[in-house]
Amino acid sequence: MATTTHQDADRVYADEHPVVMPFRFDETVAQVFTNMISRSVPGYDTTLSLINSTAALYALPDTYCYDLGCSLGAATIALADSIPDSCHLVAVDNSAAMIDRCSKNINDYRQEVDAACATIEIIEADLNEVRFERASIIVMNYTLQFIPPEQRDHLIARLADALVEGGCLVISEKVHFDDPATTEHMRQLHESYKRQQGYSELEIAQKRTALENVLVTDTMDTHNRRFRAAGLTSSVISRQLNFVTLLARKLASG
Ligand SMILES: C[S@@+](CC[C@H](N)C(=O)[O-])C[C@H]1O[C@@H](n2cnc3c(N)ncnc32)[C@H](O)[C@@H]1O
Repeated sequence: MATTTHQDADRVYADEHPVVMPFRFDETVAQVFTNMISRSVPGYDTTLSLINSTAALYALPDTYCYDLGCSLGAATIALADSIPDSCHLVAVDNSAAMIDRCSKNINDYRQEVDAACATIEIIEADLNEVRFERASIIVMNYTLQFIPPEQRDHLIARLADALVEGGCLVISEKVHFDDPATTEHMRQLHESYKRQQGYSELEIAQKRTALENVLVTDTMDTHNRRFRAAGLTSSVISRQLNFVTLLARKLASG
């Protein structure tokens, strides 16, 4: 499977910030994003492989496929590598810095594969403004957690409406638990993982502050209730600590 190539080391929170501002997907983050996400999200590479293999099973000829919150296009490429050539793949992000780099990565990818592949459209837009067409697979890899919670039910319902029967959503998210002790234990395990990835205590603490009220997690119950309300049937297909990948299917009626 092809991958994005950008590998600058993440030092965004390495030096002390006099005031830690809320986290944004700006140029500073876009520059180091591949390194940041792979060192921060346990199992990130596995989610890309699962997107690739799930798309091989679910993507149907002549349908749309979406990567929502595409960042630098890692999941876009995972999809492009396994969907039929007759699909139209749409990657969406509302960060100009991400879209700029994603476009370059997708151009490099097209040259690398040097063969027919699905058409790929890259759009800078808020997901709430996008009209979704007849889709067989829609991916949100760690994006829903950045959408304001009060908008999530409506967004998932719109995605479910856009899916063809037999189509699916693949959604990866950080989650929390009803039991605060489990949430706290997972936080400690995740921070230990980040230390092992070379992040300092200062980096971990400043990033945690930056993400407060920006990355807002749901529980598994909330995800499952939202999928059910949208008429989707969900299963967990991967979990590492408190990072899960869910497959939500629109079953054929009748
Ligand atoms: C954690 S990153 C996603 C990582 C990416 N899917 C991957 O697999 O590498 C979240 C992305 O969602 C985008 N995003 C957040 N809110 C958005 C919105 N309302 N509309 C479009 N994109 C959004 C951010 O700009 C960011 O690039």
